[in-house]
Amino acid sequence: MLMGGKAAICLFLLLFFSLQFHKIHSVELDTISESRFLTDGDTLVSETGIFELGFFQPGSSKNRYLGIWYKQIVVKTVVWVANRDHPLPNATSNMLKISSPGILVLSNNNTMIWSSNTTKTTSSRNVTSKLHDNGNLVLLDQHENVLWQSFDYPTDTLLPGMKLGKNLVTGLEWHLWSWKNNQDPSTGEITWGADTRVYPENKMKQGERIRFRGGPWNNQKFTGISQFNRSLTFTYVVSINKNEISFSYNLDISSIISRVVLNSSGQLESTVWVEDGKKWQLSLTLPRDICDTYNICSAYGSCSVDTVTQSCACLDEKRFVPRNEKSWNSADWSGGCVRRTPLDCKNGSEGFIKYSDVKLPDTESSWFNMSMSLDECELKCLKNCTCMAYANPDPSLAPMGCLLWFEDLKDIRVYPQGSGGQDIYVRMASSELVAQSNFKKSRGAQIKIILPSVLTGILLIGVISTWLWYARRKRTQAKLMGEGGSLTHVSESHEEDLQLPLYSFSTIAIATSKFSTENILGEGGFGTVYKGVLEDGLEIAVKRLSKTSNQGVDEFKNEVICISKLQHRNLVKLLGCCIQGDERLLIYEYMRNKSLDSLIFDKTQSRVLDWTKRFNIIKGIAKGLLYLHHDSRLRIIHRDLKASNILLDQDMNPKISDFGIARSFGGNETEANTHRVVGTYGYMSPEYALDGIFSIKSDAFSFGVLVLEIVSGNKNRGFIHPENDNNLIGHAWSLYNEGKSMELIDANLADSCNPPEVLRSIGVGLLCVQQHAGDRPNMSSVVQMLSGEGTLPQPKEPAFFMNKEFLVADFTSSTYQAGSVSDLTITDLDAR
Ligand SMILES: *[C@@H]1O[C@H](CO)[C@@H](O)[C@H](O)[C@H]1NC(C)=O
Ligand SMILES: *[C@@H]1O[C@H](CO)[C@@H](O)[C@H](O)[C@H]1NC(C)=O
Ligand SMILES: *[C@@H]1O[C@H](CO)[C@@H](O)[C@H](O)[C@H]1NC(C)=O
Ligand SMILES: *[C@@H]1O[C@H](CO)[C@@H](O)[C@H](O)[C@H]1NC(C)=O
Ligand SMILES: *[C@@H]1O[C@H](CO)[C@@H](O)[C@H](O)[C@H]1NC(C)=O
Ligand SMILES: *[C@@H]1O[C@H](CO)[C@@H](O)[C@H](O)[C@H]1NC(C)=O
Ligand SMILES: *[C@@H]1O[C@H](CO)[C@@H](O)[C@H](O)[C@H]1NC(C)=O
Ligand SMILES: *[C@@H]1O[C@H](CO)[C@@H](O)[C@H](O)[C@H]1NC(C)=O
Ligand SMILES: *[C@@H]1O[C@H](CO)[C@@H](O)[C@H](O)[C@H]1NC(C)=O
Repeated sequence: MLMGGKAAICLFLLLFFSLQFHKIHSVELDTISESRFLTDGDTLVSETGIFELGFFQPGSSKNRYLGIWYKQIVVKTVVWVANRDHPLPNATSNMLKISSPGILVLSNNNTMIWSSNTTKTTSSRNVTSKLHDNGNLVLLDQHENVLWQSFDYPTDTLLPGMKLGKNLVTGLEWHLWSWKNNQDPSTGEITWGADTRVYPENKMKQGERIRFRGGPWNNQKFTGISQFNRSLTFTYVVSINKNEISFSYNLDISSIISRVVLNSSGQLESTVWVEDGKKWQLSLTLPRDICDTYNICSAYGSCSVDTVTQSCACLDEKRFVPRNEKSWNSADWSGGCVRRTPLDCKNGSEGFIKYSDVKLPDTESSWFNMSMSLDECELKCLKNCTCMAYANPDPSLAPMGCLLWFEDLKDIRVYPQGSGGQDIYVRMASSELVAQSNFKKSRGAQIKIILPSVLTGILLIGVISTWLWYARRKRTQAKLMGEGGSLTHVSESHEEDLQLPLYSFSTIAIATSKFSTENILGEGGFGTVYKGVLEDGLEIAVKRLSKTSNQGVDEFKNEVICISKLQHRNLVKLLGCCIQGDERLLIYEYMRNKSLDSLIFDKTQSRVLDWTKRFNIIKGIAKGLLYLHHDSRLRIIHRDLKASNILLDQDMNPKISDFGIARSFGGNETEANTHRVVGTYGYMSPEYALDGIFSIKSDAFSFGVLVLEIVSGNKNRGFIHPENDNNLIGHAWSLYNEGKSMELIDANLADSCNPPEVLRSIGVGLLCVQQHAGDRPNMSSVVQMLSGEGTLPQPKEPAFFMNKEFLVADFTSSTYQAGSVSDLTITDLDAR
């Protein structure tokens, strides 16, 4: 049928103008009401312009969707899609309006495509819709009651403040569904959400198949997700009460833009926007490694990524055996493990063995009562023959909290000691308990359980706690000798005796001229360092720890003894300590040439460090770090490696200082003093800075920064290349790509340098500052690479440098109230 000419022209003009209109004057609304529609091309903007709602087409798709994205971010990032399964055509007749009785309706040419499914009916006529600054699209009645909100219908993105879990009143479940693919927001196969029938934990599923499990919720960390107790920027909130079971996260710093996305290939990506780099910086992706594969080791198997050969081991190789030894040994772990001595459940004779640092097993078949103490919990488990284990899932509620498992324990993994695993008590036949009372054996066993293999970096604190436990048992044998004596730890024959001189406060006060300001060598983490001279002429460096730690005298002594055991030519030697009243002093050997930063960053001073010396320093630091990570009896992650913590002796040999201090004296263990960030801007790896995850690989990152600083004579922090705004890492990377790495070197090195060594060092430096911890070499590879063995792998683009804003920490102490099980509310808890 022919359309009248006039009408056709009219339609054309209308179309033309509306298109032009949208292109040139697209309107930004702040409210949608019954009289104000949102037409295609216009947007609804949040209060202060952070988010924007409008129509978009993903990639080259022909389909059009209504979605929410960040208004101020140049990379269009859609966080929510309304009509994901009901696309609109690319047409100007698309419209979002409010229809009576208070429903948001998305239509094309007046055909309804999608609606808000508002369940709360309202008699009000004045319904409006607004976009909040947190990205939540809300439908409000005239009293500003929320009738409907987009946060209740997440797509693939979890924003701060959004919940996962279940609303027990409405029955609505909150979980993430992936997009089909990057171009298609329709509901994909993969979900991330909680099973709320039992003790809640998030699971990633593909259809019915579980791919990855987050671990039971608690307020300190997302076990199995972030291996850390506290984060620099996030606060977790778990609510379990009669109205809802939910988990959400908040940002302590509102200026940070962060999101968690479940992507279509089944990875959860936690990212933070970096304005400097104009890109999303990945801080964590899950699942991370083979051990995150759901139930890979089957019942009573435990997965560890440390082992080179096999990922799976029985939970405890003494008390469990593979169900099918042969297939187990050929890496078919599907049979799992069984108890060597079967349970017989003979009237209370059984007991429990504690396993530490584990990801708690699948709670599929569990029971909990968070008002029960751990002792009651044990009793409850013991009484029921089908109860296989118990634990306190949320240590922030300690001593309360009880979770019982009624089936074989599934999907256990072991974390490096101290990096966020939890304790679980597993039921054992009485004959298996005997071994535990044999102290010597059990200690070995415990270490073996915790470290099925001993290759990963272990934090000092974990070791210390094991050691303290050991020390406590033996306390009667530990004796402290007085003035001029020594602190001696007498232990069983397999431990060598250890002596550490104990100085009196007056001796040190005299040596440092009463801690006079003239003797200050530096202001370091945890205290001030003074130079001193003992009566016999020995020069010493004294670290006077700030009086903020609530640590007890015994604990302090024990930790000092631990640190004094670390001896290596590239570590500063601890000569002794002093404890008097609340004074805590550490006495170190004095280093004539002070710290590396006082030399390399100084244009004139840096001349004394020619290339040979610098290369020697780089290699020395690598060896010292290797010793801390792998060779020492305590496995230590330094956590604050930087130029000012590298001291130089009279021959310019580097000595790492402050090792172990971070963990043992940082004070974060004594919750009273958690306001300190350990680590230094410019040296922190992305995962540490953003998520508080530290590992030997975060030290490797700091080492990489240090190498680039030593080569270039520039500080990473504060360095901005005049032409391209790059920081030192970025600058080194662009020179590397242009094949001009030699241009990075300090001008003072021009004459002395050895180009192959310089290039090797820069290559190693760049490898160490890789974005992903897995791409960074460990220190033994670093030492090898520096010594010229093997070819250097090609580095990828290194971690972008982050705003210092990210690193502002705010650890507020937590308050909470534990209610009864029927009304247990744990809200507003701050991560520690
Ligand atoms: C959507 O329609 C407009 C106007 O007809 C056109 O210019 C644009 O290319 C279309 N976009 C896509 C992705 O098809
Ligand atoms: C819009 O709807 C009207 C009436 O329902 C119909 O005549 C017209 O063809 C439709 N336009 C388009 C572009 O679908
Ligand atoms: C609307 O919500 C109710 C309750 O949440 C749900 O049962 C129903 O399937 C939803 N309908 C649509 C069309 O989404
Ligand atoms: C609806 O909103 C208009 C304008 O804000 C106001 O004048 C009117 O009183 C409201 N009506 C009701 C029933 O609240
Ligand atoms: C999903 O995330 C992983 C990890 O960041 C990434 O390697 C992969 O390319 C992503 N997939 C898609 C489809 O974006
Ligand atoms: C179990 O022990 C309790 C007390 O120790 C005793 O009263 C009870 O008879 C015992 N039951 C069995 C089956 O041995
Ligand atoms: C939970 O434990 C507390 C303390 O033992 C007890 O008073 C309460 O009745 C228990 N609740 C349930 C449901 O078992
Ligand atoms: C043991 O616990 C299971 C699971 O909760 C329960 O079904 C069973 O009744 C309990 N048995 C006893 C004796 O309490
Ligand atoms: C985590 O917290 C527990 C208890 O609060 C503590 O023992 C452990 O050392 C902490 N671990 C880390 C890595 O901070």
